[in-house]
Amino acid sequence: MIDRRRFLKSLGAGAGVLIALPALPALATTKKVAIHLDKFDKLKPVGGWIVVRVKDTELLIVHDAEGSVRAFDPTCTHLKCTVGYRPEDRRLVCPCHASTYDLDGVVLGGPAPRALKRYDAVLKDDTIVLTLDDAGS
Ligand code: FES
Repeated sequence: MIDRRRFLKSLGAGAGVLIALPALPALATTKKVAIHLDKFDKLKPVGGWIVVRVKDTELLIVHDAEGSVRAFDPTCTHLKCTVGYRPEDRRLVCPCHASTYDLDGVVLGGPAPRALKRYDAVLKDDTIVLTLDDAGS
């Protein structure tokens, strides 16, 4: 049988250990994926865009300028419709309730409450290198 003093002492030591443990940061990792511009006719010209699934990640990729592409999660932050691109005014546009975003994904109008998630995308020699979240797949 354990006496009261030892019992309380063991609780104190246990609590001390729990308090002393630091919170572990989330282990976010990324992966780089290359896709070739030649495989997507709609993306080749400046102003072209596509919605495509790459390694389990749905992406809106916009060829916004010569030698430049941008990539976003196309899920509208309002009610999750798929956002497209309107090259005439260089806006990302949701077809459901007309939210508009700029080419940084920032909301310009409509009911969308937050910016679109943006992914790093680099175009070099007709190859697009995307930096995606690595969900372990
Ligand atoms: Fe995009 Fe409503 S779902 S504006």
